[in-house]
Amino acid sequence: MEVIILPTAEEASEVAARLVARQVREKPQSVLGLATGSTPCKLYDLLARMHRDGDLDFSKTTSFNLDEYVGLDPVHPASYHHFMEKNLFSLINIPQGHIHIPDGLAADVPAHCTAYEKAIREAGGIDLQILGLGSDGHLGFNEPGSSLASRTRIKTLTERTRSDNARFFADCGEVPHHVITMGLGTIMESRMCLLLAFGEGKAHAVAQSVEGPVTASVPGSLLQFHPHAKVLLDAGAASLLARADYYRWVYKNKPEWQTDL
Ligand code: GLP
Repeated sequence: MEVIILPTAEEASEVAARLVARQVREKPQSVLGLATGSTPCKLYDLLARMHRDGDLDFSKTTSFNLDEYVGLDPVHPASYHHFMEKNLFSLINIPQGHIHIPDGLAADVPAHCTAYEKAIREAGGIDLQILGLGSDGHLGFNEPGSSLASRTRIKTLTERTRSDNARFFADCGEVPHHVITMGLGTIMESRMCLLLAFGEGKAHAVAQSVEGPVTASVPGSLLQFHPHAKVLLDAGAASLLARADYYRWVYKNKPEWQTDL
């Protein structure tokens, strides 16, 4: 796990954007795993800008989103379909047919989840998975206690996550209880994981994920087992890391051949 701490969320998002852009340039047919929430907004903004400037072509790229609320229409303003369309897909040239987001209105949820896993496999697996972190350490919507081997399935949100996400809804009671999310096993099969976390509100979950024991109680901690995971943090999110100075030193003093950013 490589921990990269930058002073601000903007600077960390710039590094993330360079990593995603490099992936897409080196392999135009890349399969990207995408996240929602406020954390990746700046990253998506930067990718859209690179595309607008003619520097980044998504025409051969495929995407799979991590999760979606059950019962929300794709046009609902808080749905992840709507979020992705507004913050990324309408701003780049990824073909509609290459976009995959779990269908919160699926009539047969288990069959839909099985088909989602199959589609990921048939696309060749996820090359680069972008991740945010819940304040309770969740990845996607894999709440604490999720099986470390889980696949795409229905999950029930904790009250904490429902209240964290209430800001995207007209009122708290409107936040669905059920979601469809890629599993932790699915996420761990991605060739590279890029976890972004910003702000002091994430500091505890970050410290537990990066420096705590690997446990289903903190889904983010599973990334310690991933062979190619980078964690991009701002100063606030890094504020409870015991080895923050060490991570900063390592990043600043990488041998030239290793500085791929
Ligand atoms: C939701 C999403 C997660 C995201 C998390 C953090 O629960 N399902 O994928 O990482 O929110 O959200 P934010 O980035 O808004 O803090």
